[in-house]
Amino acid sequence: MRRIAFVNEKGGTCKTTLCVNTAAWIATERGKRVLVADLDTQGHAGKALGVDVRGLTPTIRDVLLRDSLSVRDVARPTGVPGLDLLAANKELAGFPVEVAAFPDRADRLRRRLDEIPDGVWDAVLLDAPPSVSLVTENVLRAATEVVLPVGLTYLALDGCAEILASLETLQQETGRSPEITLVVPTLYRKTQLAAEILEKLRERFPGKLSAPLGFSVKIDEAQSHGRTIFEYAPRSTGALALAEIARAVWDRPAAP
Ligand SMILES: Nc1ncnc2c1ncn2[C@@H]1O[C@H](COP(=O)(O)OP(=O)(O)OP(=O)(O)O)[C@@H](O)[C@H]1O
Ligand SMILES: [Mg+2]
Repeated sequence: MRRIAFVNEKGGTCKTTLCVNTAAWIATERGKRVLVADLDTQGHAGKALGVDVRGLTPTIRDVLLRDSLSVRDVARPTGVPGLDLLAANKELAGFPVEVAAFPDRADRLRRRLDEIPDGVWDAVLLDAPPSVSLVTENVLRAATEVVLPVGLTYLALDGCAEILASLETLQQETGRSPEITLVVPTLYRKTQLAAEILEKLRERFPGKLSAPLGFSVKIDEAQSHGRTIFEYAPRSTGALALAEIARAVWDRPAAP
């Protein structure tokens, strides 16, 4: 089971959009069984998949806190065949305090994913929250591959430096860290500043940059209707761009 995390500690860089639509593409176009695990108290992955997560129980919080509930017990099907959801909502906000005394508090997600029997899902896609937090640490420890969406704005490179620092710390502490497999420039507009940031990203992540994801109102609309772009506007430029990125994420050699 591949474990692919969409991470950027900076908010609003299209993590959730990429996570949910990549998952839907892998399920639909590659015929794989995919789990989206939402690790964000905002619950946006669920909302983007048409699931009303307010007051929902059990959620990923229960998986992280209670060994008696397995990931399979809590995952629920979505409207996309082959795509399941481990939903989050604001109940997850208490997690860092609730596990403060547990020695394995940063490894709980990895441990619960390790327990999933082979053959249930081909991939789990993790939608990380926009924060440097215990939850993000759980995500980085659980993932083997990281997709890094970078909003092409002035402070974008700062966000990249933060992620690289987190991965470096993890490597030093545990002897392993996930590989950044793809960097996706998002919020793209054709400006001089965007071109300069793109050039810097190309230098810093050689061979790992995808085509940029431009602004597409259909992508935002799809999200607001709780549908994937492939259901809502399959022939839109946004759908073509997200399919191309999903292909770049999936059709690469699996991490060892
Ligand atoms: N290419 C796009 N064109 C237009 N709107 C987009 C595009 N990608 C994402 N959006 C919209 O931008 C908003 C933020 O996107 P998204 O939720 O994917 O970011 P995020 O990184 O997950 O945010 P957060 O850090 O809060 O979790 C959403 O309303 C989404 O619908
Ligand atoms: Mg998000």
